[in-house]
Amino acid sequence: MPRSAIAPKDRLIVALDLPSPAQAQALVERLGDAVTFYKIGYQLGFAGGLSMVRSLNEAGKKVFVDLKLHDIGNTVKRGVESLSSLGATFLTVHAYPQTMQAAVSARGKTGPKILAVTVLTSYDEADVQAAGFRLNLAELVAMRARQAKELGVDGIVCSPEETIALREIVGDEMCLVTPGIRPSGSASGDQKRVMTPGRAIAAGSDYLVVGRPVVEAADPRAAAESIQAEIAQALG
Ligand code: C5P
Repeated sequence: MPRSAIAPKDRLIVALDLPSPAQAQALVERLGDAVTFYKIGYQLGFAGGLSMVRSLNEAGKKVFVDLKLHDIGNTVKRGVESLSSLGATFLTVHAYPQTMQAAVSARGKTGPKILAVTVLTSYDEADVQAAGFRLNLAELVAMRARQAKELGVDGIVCSPEETIALREIVGDEMCLVTPGIRPSGSASGDQKRVMTPGRAIAAGSDYLVVGRPVVEAADPRAAAESIQAEIAQALG
C-alpha cells in the first residue's frame, strides 16, 4: 500500500501493555471502533495474550506482535514459521543480519511483515557505548537500516528523531514505525528519545506506537482520538 493511502486513524497502534488478556480485552472494548491496530508485546504475550491475535483479527483489527526476536538463524526461522499462522500484520526482530535474514525467509508471502528494531528508544548514546558498540548511536541505527533494506525487511522500528535520516536510507518502500511518542504534557517515563504525534508524522513516520499515554489515560478512547486528530492534522 502506498504510504499516503494509510488512513490517519489506522496509523495509531495502541500497545496493549497489560498483565492479562482479560484486562487487554476490557481496554479493546473501551476503545471500540476508535482503534484499528494493536500491539502485543512481552507482558501480554507471555501471559496468554498471543491467542488474542486471532480474536482481534476476527473483530476486524490488525495486530503487531512485538516479540523482538533474536536467536540463531534456525531458531528464528522456526519461530517465525509458528508465528505466521497466528495472522499478525507485523512482527519485530532485532536488526542483526542473521536474524533478519532468517525472519524474511521464514515469513514467505503470507506471514507477517518483518520490522527490524534498530536501537531501542530507551537507549541514549551512553547506553550504546555501555553495551560495547564502537559506532555511535546514529551510525549504528543507519548501518542496521541499510542492512535491513538489503535483506528485504519490510520496515523499521525507530525513534521519531531518526525518521528523516532513515527515510533517506530506506526509501519509500519500507515503512517506519515509531514508538517513543508522547502527546505534549504527558510523562516520558523511561523513553529517552520522544516526540509528539504530529511532529513524528510530519517527520515521515508511517505508524505511531503508543502505550502508556493511551493505556493509562483516564479516558483512553479520548486520548486515542486526540492522537489520531493530531495525526490527521499533520498529514494535512
Ligand atoms: O508506553 P509507551 O508509549 O512508552 O510504549 C511504547 C511501546 O513500544 C512499548 O510496548 C515498547 O515495548 C515498544 N517499543 C519501544 N521501543 C522500540 C520498540 C518497541 O518502546 N524500539
